Amino acid sequence: MAESISFEEAKQRVEELTDQLNEYSYQYYVLDNPTISDSEYDTLYQELVGLEETYPRLVQSDSPTQRVGGPALAGFEKVTHDQQMLSLDNAFSLDELKAFDERIKRLTNHSFHYICELKIDGLAISLRYENGKYIQAATRGDGTTGENVTPNVRAIKAVPLKLQEPVNLEARGEIYMPKASFKKLNEERDESGEAVFANPRNAAAGTLRNLDPKITAQRNLNIFLYSLPVIEGETIDAQSEALNRMEQLGLKTNPEKKIFQSIEEVWDFIKEIQEKRNDLAYEIDGVVIKVDELSVQDEIGYTVKAPRWAIAYKFPAEEAKTTIRGIEWSVGRTGTVTPTAVMDPVHLAGTTVQRASLHNVDLIKEKDIRLNDKVFIHKAGDIIPEVIRVDFSERPAESSPYPIPTHCPACNSELVHLEDEVALRCMNPKCPAQAAEKLVHFVSRNAMNIDGFGEKLALQVYEKELVQDVADIYGLTKEQLMQLDKIAEKSAAKLVEAVEDSKKQSLERLLFGLGIRHVGSKAARILAERFETMENLQTASKEELIAIEGLGDTIAESILAFFELEEAQQLIRKLQAYNLNMAYTGPKFSEEKAEDTFFNGKTIVLTGKLEHFSRPELKERLILLGAKVTGSVSTKTDILIAGEDAGSKMKKAQELAIHIMNEEELLDELDRKG
Ligand code: IVH
Repeated sequence: MAESISFEEAKQRVEELTDQLNEYSYQYYVLDNPTISDSEYDTLYQELVGLEETYPRLVQSDSPTQRVGGPALAGFEKVTHDQQMLSLDNAFSLDELKAFDERIKRLTNHSFHYICELKIDGLAISLRYENGKYIQAATRGDGTTGENVTPNVRAIKAVPLKLQEPVNLEARGEIYMPKASFKKLNEERDESGEAVFANPRNAAAGTLRNLDPKITAQRNLNIFLYSLPVIEGETIDAQSEALNRMEQLGLKTNPEKKIFQSIEEVWDFIKEIQEKRNDLAYEIDGVVIKVDELSVQDEIGYTVKAPRWAIAYKFPAEEAKTTIRGIEWSVGRTGTVTPTAVMDPVHLAGTTVQRASLHNVDLIKEKDIRLNDKVFIHKAGDIIPEVIRVDFSERPAESSPYPIPTHCPACNSELVHLEDEVALRCMNPKCPAQAAEKLVHFVSRNAMNIDGFGEKLALQVYEKELVQDVADIYGLTKEQLMQLDKIAEKSAAKLVEAVEDSKKQSLERLLFGLGIRHVGSKAARILAERFETMENLQTASKEELIAIEGLGDTIAESILAFFELEEAQQLIRKLQAYNLNMAYTGPKFSEEKAEDTFFNGKTIVLTGKLEHFSRPELKERLILLGAKVTGSVSTKTDILIAGEDAGSKMKKAQELAIHIMNEEELLDELDRKG
């Protein structure tokens, strides 16, 4: 056996990689200034994963691999704050700010400055670091006791797992959801029939209070720190100094802060921010004004609830009043039928608004919205126009409740209102409104991956009535395709060929392409591997479905409901008649089959550029053949698969006399045994 990469060497490299990756992550997420490419980051990250897999003892608490990974929690523990987390008093006008200024001047004779910061609309959080390492996050709760949300906050990439210096501190700030992420999340929730969040603050709070850190990781939360109540061994003299010190340590602070001498200057700043408000990437609800000097803060003191040395100026709510003229209903790919209010145009928060999503049918009933009602509207997260409430005092006497549609606006089939959903749904898989969107999905890359068949073409063949459902794609002729915009004979022939080729795709792509609710590409893959043929899956029982790891009740029920539909059965028969493959043809890992493959039980490292595979693709294939794929070469490595430009790993493998395989040998071996 070749000589070993010593434990010491591995330890040193793990520490080096951990620090390096944390630094890159800091540059990316805190400073907004990436210094390496995503793929360079991934390569280093994979090397660390490999070393950590080989030596689990070496995993550092601040390793970037530890951001998500823990199990979902059963509940949140309580955390008692060493110092109470206070709230702020509010001001709504210049007069109230002047009164605040006078009160302060009565309480101190010393000269002082005001520091203005943005009031971020999120939820307050306390972070604790020991020796520079992230150890705890707690919500504000009632100010005295909050909830321990350490694993969830660890999943937020802008929260450093290690500070730039090994200090002990507690920092406080605001966790928020950027406007764009809020918009995307609500769109997804609308489409899947879930209730939408009212604003980014609720979305951030709901995400953080979710027991599964994986959800936090997916939802793109962010943070700004605004106070530093504890930093051991250091004296801080001013709020501005605390902000600078936090920045130095790698804690993200908001750049829009400024120091002023007088409350009049503060007012100018407020007006300036109000102008900018709609252009910020996150929602703010005001400006916080604080006395900068900590000695003066101490002198002025606190009430039971809030500091006397600070105040929050709250922007007036941006609302407008208009009249509902109509309600439009549209049908999405999965059949959700969503209402949009059409209103008299009105100016609101920087734009003219004429339409507002009503999200779902329940909301219309709840708010009792009727045609010709006068309503107040606002923008959730500063971007999404929404109806807040009806002005009942102005409701016309002859008004009657809005009649909720019972039939699909596109295909007229009966709509259902599933018990656990807020949305109305059209269940007809042949519904024309859904069909166009379904077609786009069917041909897409992760589904049937039909070369040259993009969204534009899919919409065109649908609009020209060349296809009615996804199966009709297989009946398209060269001549029909040549009728379309910008399709000459050659590309039409190519398209027909690509369509024909796609008939061979493995079952999981077809399953995903069918757009069964809740069946994403991962679930489709699991199902295809487990049931192997469409027929087996069609006849699977609920018990068989939920027994599969990775599938829950929701997916199982959705699959059963889909296959029960006469329309779905017809569609599958039609695809069969076109000779589509309905079996899983991907690699399958079963113990007996894997035993006689060359790669079974081998520890393999990948390096260099490969022509025929992406790294994740090859890794997955090898794992299915029973191999273990790690990130770095050690004595435990059996094979190094080396593509072009292989570097240090190649050298190391040569030193350790490890079997090095080039891409050609790999392909031969995969053809033979794989
Ligand atoms: S200072 C003792 N600064 O506003 C002073 N708070 O309405 C504590 N907030 O609970 C707060 N941005 O969650 C401060 N720049 C900022 C803030 C801020 C948002 C939140 C904070 C607080 C709430 C009070």
